[in-house]
Amino acid sequence: MALSCLLRVSLLGFGLVGLAGAHARTLLERDGATSTKKPSVLILGGGVAGVIAARTLHEQGIDNFQIVEARGELGGRLTSHTFGAPGKEVVVEAGANWVQGTQTGDGPENPIWTLVQKHGLKTQFNDWFGSITTYDFDGFNNYTDVFDDSGNNYTTLTVAAGARVDKQLVDTTARTGYQLIDAKLRTPQAMASEYYQFDWEYAQTPEESSWIASSWGNNFTYDTDMGGFSDDNQMSLDQRGFKFFIQAEAAEFLQPDQVVYNATVKTISYSSHGVEVTLTNGTALAADYVLCTFSLGVLQNDDVAFEPALPDWKQEAIQSMTMATYTKIFLQFDENFWFDTQMALYADKERGRYPVWQSMDVVNFFPGSGIVFVTVTGDFSERIEALPDSQVQHEVLEVLQAMFPNTTLPTPRAFWFPRWHSDPLFRGSYSNWPASFFSEHHENLRAAVADRLWFAGEATSFKYFGFLHGAYFEGLEVAGAMAQCIQGGGCAASELQHVEEVKNAHPYQIVM
Ligand SMILES: Cc1cc2nc3c(=O)[nH]c(=O)nc-3n(C[C@H](O)[C@H](O)[C@H](O)COP(=O)(O)OP(=O)(O)OC[C@H]3O[C@@H](n4cnc5c(N)ncnc54)[C@H](O)[C@@H]3O)c2cc1C
Ligand SMILES: *[C@@H]1O[C@H](CO)[C@@H](O)[C@H](O)[C@H]1NC(C)=O
Ligand SMILES: *[C@@H]1O[C@H](CO)[C@@H](O)[C@H](O)[C@H]1NC(C)=O
Ligand SMILES: *[C@@H]1O[C@H](CO)[C@@H](O)[C@H](O)[C@H]1NC(C)=O
Ligand SMILES: *[C@@H]1O[C@H](CO)[C@@H](O)[C@H](O)[C@H]1NC(C)=O
Ligand SMILES: *[C@@H]1O[C@H](CO)[C@@H](O)[C@H](O)[C@H]1NC(C)=O
Ligand SMILES: *[C@@H]1O[C@H](CO)[C@@H](O)[C@H](O)[C@H]1NC(C)=O
Repeated sequence: MALSCLLRVSLLGFGLVGLAGAHARTLLERDGATSTKKPSVLILGGGVAGVIAARTLHEQGIDNFQIVEARGELGGRLTSHTFGAPGKEVVVEAGANWVQGTQTGDGPENPIWTLVQKHGLKTQFNDWFGSITTYDFDGFNNYTDVFDDSGNNYTTLTVAAGARVDKQLVDTTARTGYQLIDAKLRTPQAMASEYYQFDWEYAQTPEESSWIASSWGNNFTYDTDMGGFSDDNQMSLDQRGFKFFIQAEAAEFLQPDQVVYNATVKTISYSSHGVEVTLTNGTALAADYVLCTFSLGVLQNDDVAFEPALPDWKQEAIQSMTMATYTKIFLQFDENFWFDTQMALYADKERGRYPVWQSMDVVNFFPGSGIVFVTVTGDFSERIEALPDSQVQHEVLEVLQAMFPNTTLPTPRAFWFPRWHSDPLFRGSYSNWPASFFSEHHENLRAAVADRLWFAGEATSFKYFGFLHGAYFEGLEVAGAMAQCIQGGGCAASELQHVEEVKNAHPYQIVM
C-alpha cells in the first residue's frame, strides 16, 4: 500500500482544463507519463471542513490545492441574511448560529470558540434554560415544573444509554429509551418540553434518532466527564455574519488562485490514477486527489454524479444516515408585544408545531429591533418548505395569536425563512444518526475510495456530527491523513478504511 503511494507519479497540475467532453482519464494518463508536477488536490466545498482541510494541507507543505465552491463566498452552512424593513435591518443567521460547548477551566476548548475569539466576533451567552416563558394553545401557562422534569428525564435518557453501551446492548430509538425510563407523559406541555430538549438539537424526533448516538452526541460536546467542552453556548450577533470567523481564518493562508467561486460541481470521475471534476458550465478540473466536503444531503440526492458509481458499501453508508432540517422563521414587528425572556416555548396539540421562540428584542441581543424568530424541524420543516411564504406566515401568526389571546396582532414588517431542505447545495441542515445506522456504516461514510477520493464534513464526524466543530475536526483529520498519503507516509490511515459488508452483530436465531 505504502509502496504504491510512493511510486505514484503526479499527474496534472491545476487550471481549468476545458476538456469539453474529452474523457479525463486519457488526458491524465497521457500527462502522467511525463509530468513531474507536485501532487495536486481539489477540495470540493468551501465550508468549515473545506477551509480547515486547506489550512491543514498548507501547514503540511502541500499548496498545490484548489477549493471549488458553488457559492460566491466561503462559509457553507454559515450563511447570514440581512433581515428587516428598510432602516431596521439586522444581519441574522440562516444557518449555524451558536458555538455549542465552549471550554471548562483549562479543559479542551471547542476549536470554533478558539477561532471566534481569535477573529474578534461579537457573541452572547444565550440562556436556553434560565430565561424562558411557557405558553400553550390557551395563552400563557406556567408549566415550568413539567419543563424542568423533562430536562431531568433527558439526562436520565443519556445515562441509561451509557449503561447500554457498557453492557454492549443493541441500540434502539430514543423513543424506546424514553418509554423504558418511564417518560411516557404525552400531554402537549410534556411533548413541547421534550421537543425543546431533543428535536431542537437533533432536528428530528426521538422516533427517528438513535438512543445511543444521540446520547453520545450530547455527551461528547457538552459533558466534561466525556471529554466535552462545556454545557455553555455562545450565540453570534456579529453584523459581519457568523461566517466571518472562517473567512478571516482563510484570508490568513489562502491565495486567490487557491479558490474557484461560482463553480458548481456536476461529476466527479475517479480512478486509481487520479480524479477529474466537471462543473455545470462544462469546465473540467483535474488533479491527483479529491476531497469531497459536500453535505450528506447532496451526496444522498445525486446532485453530483460519481464515475464510476460509488461502491455499494459507500452508498449504503450515505443512504443510511439521515439529513435533518432545522428552520428558523424570522418576523419583525414595529414593536415588541411578546415575552421579555430570551426564549419561549409554545405547546400545541400537534407536537412540533411552531414550538421554540426566541426574542432578539431583549437586552444584550438586538433591543429595539422588533425581531422574534420561531424554529421548526424535521418533517415539519419539509412541510413548510413546500408552502408559499404567505401561508407559513399565516400559520405562524395563528400561533402567536394563541399565545397572546388578548393582543390584537400587528402586521409583521418583515417575514423570512430559508429553505435548507430544497436547496441543492445542502438538501437539509445537518446530519442525524438513526437507530438503524451502525458504527461500521459510519466508518464507511468516512472512508476514502481508491485512495483518491476522500470525504470530510460534519456528517463524517463520529463524535460531533451535526456541529460546526464536527466539520472542523474532520477537515483537520481527513486532510492530515491525505497529506500522509500524498507525502508517501502511507494511505492506509487506519481510521479511514472501510468495512466491505456491515453484518448483523447478533444474527437472528431461527427457533424451530
Ligand atoms: C439551520 C442550521 C443551524 C445550525 N446550527 C448550528 C449551530 O448553532 N452550531 C453548530 O455547531 N452547528 C450548527 N449547524 C451545523 C453546521 O452549520 C454544520 O455542521 C457545518 O457548517 C458543516 O460544515 P461542512 O464544511 O461540513 O459543510 P458545508 O458548510 O455544507 O460546506 C460544503 C460546501 O459545499 C458547497 N457545495 C455543495 N454542493 C456543491 C456543488 N455541487 N459544487 C460546488 N460546491 C458545492 C456548499 O455551497 C458548501 O459551501 C447548523 C446548520 C444549519 C443549516
Ligand atoms: C459569483 O457570482 C455572483 C453572482 O453572479 C457575482 O456577484 C460574484 O462577483 C461572483 N464571484 C466571483 C468570485 O466570481
Ligand atoms: C412558574 O412557576 C414556578 C413554580 O413552579 C415559579 O417558580 C415561577 O416563578 C413561575 N413563573 C412565572 C413566570 O410565573
Ligand atoms: C453520558 O453522560 C452521562 C453522565 O456523564 C453518563 O452517565 C452516560 O454513561 C453517558 N452516556 C453515553 C451514551 O456515553
Ligand atoms: C419524567 O419521567 C418520569 C418517570 O421517571 C415521569 O413520571 C414523568 O412524567 C416524566 N416527565 C416528563 C415531562 O417527561
Ligand atoms: C466555468 O466556471 C468557472 C468557475 O466559475 C470559470 O472559471 C470558467 O471560466 C467557466 N467556464 C465557462 C466555459 O464559462
Ligand atoms: C385575557 O382576557 C380575559 C378576559 O378579560 C382574561 O380572563 C384573561 O386572563 C386574559 N388573558 C391573558 C393571558 O391576559
